[in-house]
Amino acid sequence: MTRMKVWLDADPGVDDAAAIILAARMPEIELVGVSACAGNVELSYTYENARNLVAYTGLNLPVHKGADRPLLAEPHFAREIHGKNGLGGQSLPASTAGHEKLPAWDAIYRAACEYAGELIVVMIGPLTNLALALLKYADLKEKIKRVVLMGGAVSYGNTTPAAEFNIYFDPEAADIVFSAGLDISMLGLDVTMQAYLDEPAIDRIHAVNEKGAFMAASMRQTLTWARKLYNLDFVAMHDPCTFLYLVYPELFRSELAGVRIETKGKLTRGKTVSDVHSDYKFEDRTVDVVLGIDHKRFLDCFMEILGRY
Ligand code: RIB
Ligand code: CA
Repeated sequence: MTRMKVWLDADPGVDDAAAIILAARMPEIELVGVSACAGNVELSYTYENARNLVAYTGLNLPVHKGADRPLLAEPHFAREIHGKNGLGGQSLPASTAGHEKLPAWDAIYRAACEYAGELIVVMIGPLTNLALALLKYADLKEKIKRVVLMGGAVSYGNTTPAAEFNIYFDPEAADIVFSAGLDISMLGLDVTMQAYLDEPAIDRIHAVNEKGAFMAASMRQTLTWARKLYNLDFVAMHDPCTFLYLVYPELFRSELAGVRIETKGKLTRGKTVSDVHSDYKFEDRTVDVVLGIDHKRFLDCFMEILGRY
């Protein structure tokens, strides 16, 4: 089997943690590096969480520190959803790996050079690190095979009525990434809200094994807040959808569309403006916008991969 060379950039994050734990047991994916950025919580937590999660899964991977704030915006953390430490109050054994000196944007470029034309970049947090790499290295975009990102939405918002968290956190970075001419698959809230875990599912995950017990414990805080803040009785597995889409695209429904990032709107800043539902169509409609997932097959897949530990 030819394994996909994948770089992961994340802001762990309860659902980021689930994504990393599952990705480490997906043989079709060869993670070649991980980078962290500020997002759900401060970089001081997301970076350590990324290091500790990589060690927790048994992966031997470099983890690089990235941006501690958006390009221009003021940081807007989501501590209420992910807890102060980003893992729903759960802790992990501290990684004993050395600290990488290369910052995320340089590490992404180095990996893109090493795996030129092959590297798939999975983004499951704000797009700051990739935007910085694109700004610094003019030839980066032609070295990246594709970008699979969790972010945005055709018709949802979770941070404002118009914007999803990863894009809202750094709209300028998202605008740079979406206008760089990259091959992008966008998994927005339209599909990730369909990849949900209700409390019985979380209980099932808890019972699978020790990794499941960690995941479930970290999700319970998010579930409490989802009920309180959004009157939702489930936790959406936003970030794991990226890896599942890479390996099991048949579980999903997507279509090509045009997508632009609103960076100026008083009420719409951070919105991914798409022409999926509009009569007016953008000239270039090259973004693979993922819109649907088979929930039962998502859950079966999630449990099966988790069970590989
Ligand atoms: O809107 C959901 C996204 O924002 C997920 O990536 C979650 O981890 C947060 O970063
Ligand atoms: Ca995330």
